[in-house]
Amino acid sequence: MTAAALGPDDGPDDGPDEGPRPGADESVTVRVPAKVNLALSVGPLRSDGYHDLATVFHAVGLFDEVTAAPTDGTLALTCEGEGQVDVPLDATNLAWRAAELLARTAGRSPAVRLHLTKGIPVAGGMAGGSADAAGALVACDALWGTGLSRDDLHALAAQLGSDVPFALYGGTAMGTGRGEQITPVLARGEFHWVFAFAHEGLSTPAVFRELDRLREDAGEQAAAPGVDEELLRALRAGDSTLLGAALRNDLTRPATSLRPDLRATLQAGQDAGAIGTLLSGSGPTCAFLAADAVVAARVAAALEAAPSVRAVRRALGPAAGAHVL
Ligand code: C5P
Repeated sequence: MTAAALGPDDGPDDGPDEGPRPGADESVTVRVPAKVNLALSVGPLRSDGYHDLATVFHAVGLFDEVTAAPTDGTLALTCEGEGQVDVPLDATNLAWRAAELLARTAGRSPAVRLHLTKGIPVAGGMAGGSADAAGALVACDALWGTGLSRDDLHALAAQLGSDVPFALYGGTAMGTGRGEQITPVLARGEFHWVFAFAHEGLSTPAVFRELDRLREDAGEQAAAPGVDEELLRALRAGDSTLLGAALRNDLTRPATSLRPDLRATLQAGQDAGAIGTLLSGSGPTCAFLAADAVVAARVAAALEAAPSVRAVRRALGPAAGAHVL
């Protein structure tokens, strides 16, 4: 697998396809989508510090772009766009680690200049850092012509983070394990989304820790995670009203416990006519499902005026996974 988007239904042994390949001195730009979790069911804390999940990932049309350019020097990373001041430009950045991991696996030097153009909010619960890691894997894979298989890239993505494999695939897919095991979900049609970005990001580990704390305080035993059949039925039917009613996220309670202002954001979208409201991943981005483009515009306008909201974006889902432009 190299240039084209990975499809969850591709055969596991697909070899390199006929997508665009750069010459030795050309750069490669990969576009990668953000995600929301239409369902996010969180099981008990595991001994490795993760939680077993049952989630439905849905890629949406908010994108980061990752450009990989050849260099004689060492790995270098630059960034522009949404939240750029908060993006680390060193080995703590997942895109940097992705390039290093791929180089090590391919037995070559990680000589590459990476440039991120961000449209996905930083620390927003939309897997922007994971998207950049997936983008860096696909871009460097194409630049270097590593010849790694799709399964190899998936395995590298899973090492980098729980949300990275899905960013390779895009579309709508079930995630299990800690989120890294991906199975396609049949979804018809197109959904209209509105996203409200918050003034400050939220730390994913802090939100999971708060969930554990709340459960412990309430004496709750977390059940094995699972996804409601209504949600899968709504996706199969392409029915946005049914989908809106079936959206679930176990991280809503801990995220709103840490950041009570998110309740006002969720309420503002609902009052403006959204047919579904949802915390995106571990937040703080809030996602709103609208019946059509007209309602989406109305919800977006109402959210623009909400004091708890920094910025508003509209997007369609599902969107394609990481692909070379
Ligand atoms: O896999 P990733 O590095 O993106 O996860 C970030 C953090 O989120 C983990 O260190 C863990 O605290 C939390 N997490 C979790 N269970 C998951 C996924 C993430 O507890 N399934």
